[in-house]
Amino acid sequence: MIKRSALVLLSLVALNACEPKPQRNITNMESTTPMTAKDVHTQSNADEVTLSHLDLDIKVDLEKKQISGCALWTIDNKKKVKVLKLDTYDMIIDSVAVDGKQVAYKRGVVIPHLGSALHIPIEMNSKQVMVCYKTGPKARALQWLDPQQTHDKKFPFLYTQSESIYARSWIPCPDGPGIRYTYSARVTVPKGLMALMSAENPQQVSDSGIYHFKMETPVPAYLMALAVGDITFKGIDNRTGVYAEPGMIEKVRYEFEDVGKMVTTAEALYGPYRWGRYDIVVLPPGFPIGGMENPRLTFCTPTVIAGDRSLVTLIAHELAHSWSGNLVTNATWNDFWLNEGFTVYFERRIMEQMMGRTYADMLWELGYQDLQTAVNDIGPSSNDTWLKLSLEGRDPDDGLTDIAYEKGSLLLELIEQNVGRAKFDKFLADYFKDHAFKTIATEEFLSYLNANLINGDTALINKININAWVYGPGIPANCPRAAQERFMKVDAERKKFEQGANPAQLATTGWTTHEWLQFLRKMPLTLTIAQMKLLDDAYQFTNSDNSEIADLWFVMAVRANYKAAYPAMEQFLSTVGRRKFLQPLYGEMMKTPTNTEMARQLFIKYRGNYHPLAQETLDKMVLGKK
Ligand code: BES
Ligand code: ZN
Repeated sequence: MIKRSALVLLSLVALNACEPKPQRNITNMESTTPMTAKDVHTQSNADEVTLSHLDLDIKVDLEKKQISGCALWTIDNKKKVKVLKLDTYDMIIDSVAVDGKQVAYKRGVVIPHLGSALHIPIEMNSKQVMVCYKTGPKARALQWLDPQQTHDKKFPFLYTQSESIYARSWIPCPDGPGIRYTYSARVTVPKGLMALMSAENPQQVSDSGIYHFKMETPVPAYLMALAVGDITFKGIDNRTGVYAEPGMIEKVRYEFEDVGKMVTTAEALYGPYRWGRYDIVVLPPGFPIGGMENPRLTFCTPTVIAGDRSLVTLIAHELAHSWSGNLVTNATWNDFWLNEGFTVYFERRIMEQMMGRTYADMLWELGYQDLQTAVNDIGPSSNDTWLKLSLEGRDPDDGLTDIAYEKGSLLLELIEQNVGRAKFDKFLADYFKDHAFKTIATEEFLSYLNANLINGDTALINKININAWVYGPGIPANCPRAAQERFMKVDAERKKFEQGANPAQLATTGWTTHEWLQFLRKMPLTLTIAQMKLLDDAYQFTNSDNSEIADLWFVMAVRANYKAAYPAMEQFLSTVGRRKFLQPLYGEMMKTPTNTEMARQLFIKYRGNYHPLAQETLDKMVLGKK
């Protein structure tokens, strides 16, 4: 990791200066491809050649587990360079044509975490570049499911996960968050199956198996997405709806009933929703993350379908990305907190609006605890706990942690508390408006903040001490902490249990998922098997339908050697591919030799059900692969 010198740090004590200079390595400010900071994770030269539109024509072969077809790029060689470079990863290139004429292309060396650049010779006034290709077996974005890995177990399924730098494994593209383009696509799938993208979507299966998509708002490559499977649609209101396998569509529709209201709530906070429809597709359980903010169509894990709408905060989060992330995009992955920190703050404001202050306080407190865990795990003095990251030479997957989410959102909460909510809300609404469809680097944000909110107010600058947050490690001393009204009651009940009370006697009526999480998280690490059994008898944690509670309970079961939970835990691990759940659970098992063996066996048995990105993480963690 590159350490920032003290000198650079001093020069970045930005808010003290009246107008700090944003760091710009590239002067080009072209509207569709503004590159305001060096992006070390793309090998494309989109700063020299504008790529304004992608026309994709692909076929999805679910038997061969391969996507094949052509990507046609509209380009403007504004710097009159001789070569266009696109990112690719484990991709078979069949042919490349420039303005309809085949050209001799070259492949750059493979850099393990970046893939290889495709070098295409172009002329001064070349207009179109067509790359025909097939995806490789190691395409990191793609998870191909056999029927038995889906909910209904009837048809195969495919979904993509392109963030952060995996779009290049299924589309040859300029794969950096700072490069935006519009797209259209023609996607051919087996007849009877549905295809969905981060675009205008069909609501019915097409007889021909051919689907046409359009995304007329420019988006970066990490927001390219595709799902193919036995999927059906149900509307919620005139601009929201859900997609899922037929066997779970009713449950999904029920769970997300309030999504229309959520969009309206978000708009009332920070301005109009700019993407037309807002739909959600619930994927099979192997989906590696909770949710992904693919424009117009959030991709979502089925583990949020708890039956009681208690985990819909995740939808508030993905929806909030329609402003922070999709509308105003982090310039590079080093600025990831501008995507996620803002989104978590926004998500909690939506939830506060919909569920009340004490509910939001619980989200803030659990988030604070997650931040403490992240800082401990990463190391309190590690540069990876700064908001501004230095991911040079690394896979962003290794550096994108809860720091961006929780430390990032708490910084915004701190600013809100210091300037007042009304003023801060106006600032944020303006921020989204002023930067709509643009990218932004941390330094630009700091300068915008200074110019539009701080206005050189030295007392305020000192109180917020933003540099300690952005360019400093750990949890800064002035970090806000939410009120604990509801959790204090939970803690009191837990105390009674610790002192010997029968758990069935505790006052738990009306507890939400969050109260249960607080109840379990703060349990002593030394619970006996007998205590675990008492808790389980009273509250059936082993058979909980709530994935958040179940996952935490299984971690506790491993810690306490409470074997009664193991069959349910195995069942969970055999289907759920969400990394956030797998990591702590396998991690807990790795703490003792016996359990390490159990982890190895379970992982080897179920590895095939996990997404390539989750496989990579667990290969390192459980199998010790480098
Ligand atoms: N954009 C992220 C997912 C992501 C981040 C994928 C970085 C790849 C690299 C998404 O919005 C997200 O944060 N999802 C969270 C849920 C959320 C409620 C914190 C998740 O998947 O757990
Ligand atoms: Zn997010």
